[in-house]
Amino acid sequence: MYNKILVPLDGSARAKVAAEHALELAESMNAEVMFLHVIPALPPYVNKYSDRLGGTYQQIRDELQLSGESLLNKVREDHSNSGLTIDTKIIWGNPSMEICREAKEGRFDLVIMGSRGLGEIKGYLMGSVSNRVVRHASCPVLIVR
Ligand SMILES: Nc1ncnc2c1ncn2[C@@H]1O[C@H](COP(=O)(O)OP(=O)(O)O)[C@@H](O)[C@H]1O
Ligand SMILES: [Mg+2]
Repeated sequence: MYNKILVPLDGSARAKVAAEHALELAESMNAEVMFLHVIPALPPYVNKYSDRLGGTYQQIRDELQLSGESLLNKVREDHSNSGLTIDTKIIWGNPSMEICREAKEGRFDLVIMGSRGLGEIKGYLMGSVSNRVVRHASCPVLIVR
């Protein structure tokens, strides 16, 4: 029923649970899985301070890129023997927008993601990223609690 499953990861425990669920489902349907990490773009006003922040700004960018890559490498290594077709991708930008864009442009037929992520606000059933993706994605979305 599903051939291509998109799994957005932010490094949180919930996203990991969603990833496990996605892999099980993919196995039962012989579907491809792509893990996507979106690095939230730094706000444009940071450029205003580029003289003072130049080096630090670049360091932060490099650090975010490296931690994103290691997150994706880890999940790919963990499942390298699964026999599944697993792909990974990193994008800079607005997480919910990039997840929806990738789902559409990559012709995914299901998104599986966590209900919450790294955000600290307690008491909400869903975080802002999962909330927006549910409302705007062009394909079905499975939220794992
Ligand atoms: N930057 C991101 N890149 C990829 N996936 C993300 C990102 N942020 C959140 N997600 C996905 O959205 C889910 C819900 O996270 P989110 O809505 O940000 O909740 P919270 O407000 O608790 O952080 C996560 O489990 C993950 O699957
Ligand atoms: Mg979050």
